[in-house]
Amino acid sequence: MDASFRFNPFDDATRRDPYPTYTQARRECPVYLHPDFPIVSIFRYADVQAILKDPGTWSSRFGPPPGVNPELVGEPSLLGTDPPEHTRLRSLVNQAFKPSIIRRLEPRIEQLAYELLDEAVEEGQVDLVEKFATPLPVIVIAEIMGVPPEDREQFKQWSDAVVANLGAGLFVPPTDDQLRARRPLFDEMGAYFSELAEARRRDPREDLLTGLVQAEYEGSKLTHGEMIRLLVLLLVAGNETTTTLIVAAVQELLDHPEELTRLRTYPELMPCAVDEVLRHWSPVQLDPRRATRDVELHGQKIRADQIVVCWLGSANRDEALFERPERFVLDRQDNRHLTFGFGPHFCLGSNLARLEGQVALRALLGRTRDFERTDDDPLPLHPSIVFRGFTRLPLRLVPA
Ligand code: HEM
Repeated sequence: MDASFRFNPFDDATRRDPYPTYTQARRECPVYLHPDFPIVSIFRYADVQAILKDPGTWSSRFGPPPGVNPELVGEPSLLGTDPPEHTRLRSLVNQAFKPSIIRRLEPRIEQLAYELLDEAVEEGQVDLVEKFATPLPVIVIAEIMGVPPEDREQFKQWSDAVVANLGAGLFVPPTDDQLRARRPLFDEMGAYFSELAEARRRDPREDLLTGLVQAEYEGSKLTHGEMIRLLVLLLVAGNETTTTLIVAAVQELLDHPEELTRLRTYPELMPCAVDEVLRHWSPVQLDPRRATRDVELHGQKIRADQIVVCWLGSANRDEALFERPERFVLDRQDNRHLTFGFGPHFCLGSNLARLEGQVALRALLGRTRDFERTDDDPLPLHPSIVFRGFTRLPLRLVPA
């Protein structure tokens, strides 16, 4: 390991542009034992992929960090389970996110996107995050789940509260007091979903909530706690990720005006373009696992129970896999990025996220002749290190 290599994922400048650090890491220090945190970072594509596809060696179940009262750490959701428990839980929600089901949502997502954008264009100058990139995914996931429209604001507030600190606890384990302070949030969400589930039991509908209630009702398939944790996971996973993707896509087009022109000329490149945003920007930057046994990787010893963090953003720029990885190439072929993860936990919402990203950009390009930043101020970073994104994007929208 090169002693000069340093990586602090909380450093503001590094978060804005982590790519030079990643490049050095892949070359000199592909397995990095952080001196300041109880974490090992993994940077190369092949290593990240191998870890994510091997749940026997690299578990998703973390358990309470050392020194933390286990009673304060709740049971994990689907995301924090391993096969066979993971396989059983996933099979219960898989159906709702299949490509054929998601494709049927396209007209509704389009209608929502154009409505939101028409209002924004009429205003002329807007914060695109507030007016477009945030509400679109919230409404879509709320409708899929079957959450009443009037509760969406509450829905978004919970989601924000859950993701604000996401990932930080891996590096600096939370104190008992911090865990205690988070309890009311999860209790409140649990009570809300329990009540909604009860309503669906009495009055079934065509939504995901009803599907899960029926799985619970049929007996051993799903416990009440598992159902509530799945609902909370879907609420959170479906929101911030997609908002960050939409913001990233707009920012990439602002950064690469020649590619924006190409996309306006050849709109059929849209699916490729969204995947290139997913690779080049990597709205989700990291994916953690726990070693289940001692492992040696590139000469470094990783002990059983050690937490490793796979840097998806680094894997996505690995020159061993991608030609000229630093370039944003609208029609990049064979784009095997890892932004949705890999292996058994591969993102359940990837089809939905891609569709929302494509529809959002289509609406923006369709309703505007041009768009530009209203100032040159540095944009505020997302509070969580999991996301590479901004919480504000002030734009002037020129109507088509
Ligand atoms: C750009 C948008 C998105 C990105 C970048 C993203 C990224 C990811 C990643 C990296 C994982 C794997 C986690 C792991 O390996 O432990 C994951 C899992 C998951 N995602 Fe997404 N996601 C996005 C959108 C969505 C949406 C819209 C939903 C909708 C509900 C969703 C639901 C889920 C769920 C439920 C899991 C857990 C799957 C499992 O553990 O088997 N995601 N996502």
